[in-house]
Amino acid sequence: MINIAIDGPAGAGKSTIAKMLAKKMNITYLDTGAMYRAVALKSILLGVDVEDEEGVKAFLPIVDLDIRYIDGVQHVYLDGNDVSKEIREHRMSKAASDISRIPAVRLKLVEMQRALAAKYDCVLDGRDITSYVLPDAKYKFFITASPEVRAERRKKELEEKGESVDFAVLLEDIKKRDYNDSHRPFAPLVCTEDSVLIDTSDMTIDEVIAKVLAVIEEKK
Ligand code: DC
Repeated sequence: MINIAIDGPAGAGKSTIAKMLAKKMNITYLDTGAMYRAVALKSILLGVDVEDEEGVKAFLPIVDLDIRYIDGVQHVYLDGNDVSKEIREHRMSKAASDISRIPAVRLKLVEMQRALAAKYDCVLDGRDITSYVLPDAKYKFFITASPEVRAERRKKELEEKGESVDFAVLLEDIKKRDYNDSHRPFAPLVCTEDSVLIDTSDMTIDEVIAKVLAVIEEKK
């Protein structure tokens, strides 16, 4: 089984890179952040505060989450509904980061992620893939970029979807989310010693892909 594990902070370009890589290698792409976003959406729909650990734990057993691929694109289904678009709204980023601090949420999603990784050749991206979900993965990458570059990329991405958010707000949100994701007690975002670190601040997507493919080739 080929498992390529990619971690890194928000907006570093992980998902774009992981998606292109999966396509090039003809393997599956698993966006694990989308799973945390879907659980956060469920919490919001139920009126449960995403920071209310007991409240979240109470509804977790009834979370009906499903990952399906349509024309090679990942779709996330919550209670039978395709929520792929809704979970990408800006407000869902903080909600997902907050709910991801709850160990019970992580354990549930990590179990699903490990099961998928055992079944399919895949590229997984997230915050704890290299350190916790698949510590034995052969190919591990930590993809990052400066907060300013990431905020600018996020701004463009949201604008393309018709959502306009101020750059300063995005930068502040990114910094807060970095802190949140790397300081939570359980499975925080870290660059493991055996991950290849790539700073994409001054790199094009094609350059990053070429670098990742070169590392994979070398390690084969
Ligand atoms: O990658 P993303 O921005 O869609 O992720 C949203 C949040 O989900 C992120 O801020 C932290 C959490 N997350 C996580 O804790 N572990 C993962 N493997 C993926 C995401």
